[in-house]
Amino acid sequence: MSLASPRTIAILGGAGALGSGLAARFVHAGHTVLIGSRDTTRASPVEAATVLSHEEAARRADIAFLTVPFAGQAEVLRMVAGAMAGKILIDATVPLVPPKVGRVQLPPEGSAALISQALLGEGVRVVSALQNVGALHLAHVGQPVDCDVLVCGDSVDARTEVIELLSDIGLRGLHAGPLANAAAAEALTSVLISINRFYKSDRAGIRITGI
Ligand SMILES: NC(=O)c1ccc[n+]([C@@H]2O[C@H](COP(=O)([O-])OP(=O)(O)OC[C@H]3O[C@@H](n4cnc5c(N)ncnc54)[C@H](OP(=O)(O)O)[C@@H]3O)[C@@H](O)[C@H]2O)c1
Repeated sequence: MSLASPRTIAILGGAGALGSGLAARFVHAGHTVLIGSRDTTRASPVEAATVLSHEEAARRADIAFLTVPFAGQAEVLRMVAGAMAGKILIDATVPLVPPKVGRVQLPPEGSAALISQALLGEGVRVVSALQNVGALHLAHVGQPVDCDVLVCGDSVDARTEVIELLSDIGLRGLHAGPLANAAAAEALTSVLISINRFYKSDRAGIRITGI
């Protein structure tokens, strides 16, 4: 596929469930994908994506996704903070607290996205997205995804850039207000987990109507 603006995209945690789906879709769309990992010897889950240290992936990239568990969020962000200056970080972290992952338990800071912004500082534009898209939705590259993406961030321009990028991989992103609103998207994930459990599904998602 030829894109108007191919990007170099770091996916920090791109060997995991969510990140590998994103990596496969961005490669398919014609972007260059760098997978950030704690283990640079690991095989790439996606042919044509390169595995690098988190810091190196962030340094070489134009824009980066964070797709690691909440428990690893701060550690990874500290590794990449210097390399992310002036860039956008798209934070998919859901602050789940096992074992009660079907219960909303947001951190005292308000949300994982606000933690990311505090750790990275004002020089990095943090945009929150993807918390409600189950990894299974992304598994079949090329197939449309039956779930909207709430995109929160304090910079409208950054949100617009992220929404355009998501549209390259078949996702409808929606401007959902400032970064403080990420708490709602993060909380909604536990709601979706509870819905999945009750209805014996594995891919409950959300659709915004009326726009
Ligand atoms: N899975 C989903 O359906 C889904 C949907 C929406 C949002 N999310 C959110 O996206 C994030 C990633 O979810 P996931 O299911 O893809 O996670 P995952 O598969 O469990 O982990 C992703 C990657 O993170 C790295 N990692 C694991 N534990 C770590 C730690 N303690 N410290 C630093 N790095 C660690 C590992 O990469 P290396 O070993 O290569 O370093 C791993 O492959 C989470 O915050 C999750 O809440 C997930």
